[in-house]
Amino acid sequence: MKRESYNIAIVGATGAVGQEMIRILEERNFPVGKLKLLASERSKGKEVEFKGEKLIVEQLEENSFKNIHIALFSAGASRSREYAPKAVQSGAVVIDNSSAFRMEPDVPLVIPEINAHRVADYRKRGIIANPNCTTAITLMALKPLHDIAKIRRVIASSYQAVSGAGAQAIEELRLQTLAWLQGKPFETRVFPYQIAFNLIPHIDSFLENGYTKEEMKLHHETRKILEDESIQVAATTVRVPVFRAHSVALNIETERKITVEQARKAIEDFPGVKLVDDPYSAKYPMPIEAAGKDECFVGRIREDYTIPSGLNLWVVGDQLRKGAALNAVQIAEVLIRDYV
Ligand code: A2P
Repeated sequence: MKRESYNIAIVGATGAVGQEMIRILEERNFPVGKLKLLASERSKGKEVEFKGEKLIVEQLEENSFKNIHIALFSAGASRSREYAPKAVQSGAVVIDNSSAFRMEPDVPLVIPEINAHRVADYRKRGIIANPNCTTAITLMALKPLHDIAKIRRVIASSYQAVSGAGAQAIEELRLQTLAWLQGKPFETRVFPYQIAFNLIPHIDSFLENGYTKEEMKLHHETRKILEDESIQVAATTVRVPVFRAHSVALNIETERKITVEQARKAIEDFPGVKLVDDPYSAKYPMPIEAAGKDECFVGRIREDYTIPSGLNLWVVGDQLRKGAALNAVQIAEVLIRDYV
């Protein structure tokens, strides 16, 4: 039976993604009954505004999920591992932004524009996973091309904003930039090295094969979301001193030849993606323009002249929106439209 409104919990409500979730629920007029904001003990009692009302942040606890219909998790994988099953036990459907459950076979991994039908699998475990931010933005550009030409192999090089590492990371870039310009000393806490005026080719931890976990997420999650175990993705993920919005340079090899014009048309016709590709007028996607926007922007589409059928392209998307909070809320919208 359909409800008029849904009680929602946000776990990690004080974080960069959690704050964005609150804004997006309001903007999209999601039918929220009660909104429960959960974070660590540090944030207990903090006030946050939602639809003109002041809500008080509560400490995440075992029994935080009583009478909650949908729980949006964005407080890191260990919190998800511990508390998502408790939320499910209390009767909530969990939409999890962390990497905790993404690759589990009985947990759907969903980008609504690509595989909304998978939301039905929430019934298996009560959990739906939200993809890695770079994967989500990358696949918004790749899915329309995969549909017309079947992608075999992808080389992805990412330029990832600090927002992907959370609220403290955003503050670290701001403080380091101010201090650096004034010739003052500064601290490096969130990132392994100074991020202001630097690039760090290291996101998440290193694995035995020399790649980082972030890089391998692109490979594994792409296969799961596109439901195609034959695609190969090799990535280099790099943190850059940009506040918000990730960029990814993509080189793809396709089974069928695809022209620039065909690719542009496919991108233009795909929901949630905008073509910005007029290089001779200096029109191409940039993080500063994608920040705060819902769409992912694609440009610099050109044939790879070194192989018979391949393209180079460039995609930019707001990591906090399509890469995280927006995608989670869109999943919740499919859930309430079709299932609960
Ligand atoms: P808090 O602000 O109280 O630390 P970000 O990714 O921007 O760093 O945000 C992480 C989110 O996860 C924040 O809301 C943070 O709350 C929350 N969080 C971190 N540790 C815990 C914990 N042990 N219990 C509940 N929430 C947590």
